[in-house]
Amino acid sequence: MVQMVASIVSLFFMSVITAIFVFVAAKSQERREYKPIKKKWYKARTFYGVTLVIAMLVVTIYTLRELPYDQPVYGAETEPTIVDVEAVQFGWIMSETEFSVGEPIEFHVTSSDVTHGFGIYDKDKNLLAQTQAMPEYTNEVYITFDKPGTYEILCLEYCGLAHHAMIGKIEVK
Ligand code: CUA
Repeated sequence: MVQMVASIVSLFFMSVITAIFVFVAAKSQERREYKPIKKKWYKARTFYGVTLVIAMLVVTIYTLRELPYDQPVYGAETEPTIVDVEAVQFGWIMSETEFSVGEPIEFHVTSSDVTHGFGIYDKDKNLLAQTQAMPEYTNEVYITFDKPGTYEILCLEYCGLAHHAMIGKIEVK
């Protein structure tokens, strides 16, 4: 669904840019007085610049309010299950792959070769949590599954020829 929307939106803007390009190319032979055009578009540039800065500021402040995302919210005296994850070309070595609904889990993610991306997806291919798997670093990612089912670990960083085949499975009961 999201991919569908993204591809339609991309196609739309690609067509808009193509149309602008064709328009400009078609008009490029015409002779026009340069001064008023320059004045007009300098004004427009200032307007767009200021609008863009304001819009970006609003979006930035709005989206950063909840940082840091995904803080672990374990109940009192709840010890999370620690799972060691090692990424290798091309697979995931995990100390545990079966969990229960409501169990707080802390993944400790590293890599033994190149940088990979550790992404946890539900059955509808929604990304639930992710972190980088980097050699010589251990990154932590927290999750508490609220629905039973099979979840997939997909690699989010192009890491070689079989990057696409780097799929792990998690069972939640
Ligand atoms: Cu590992 Cu892509």
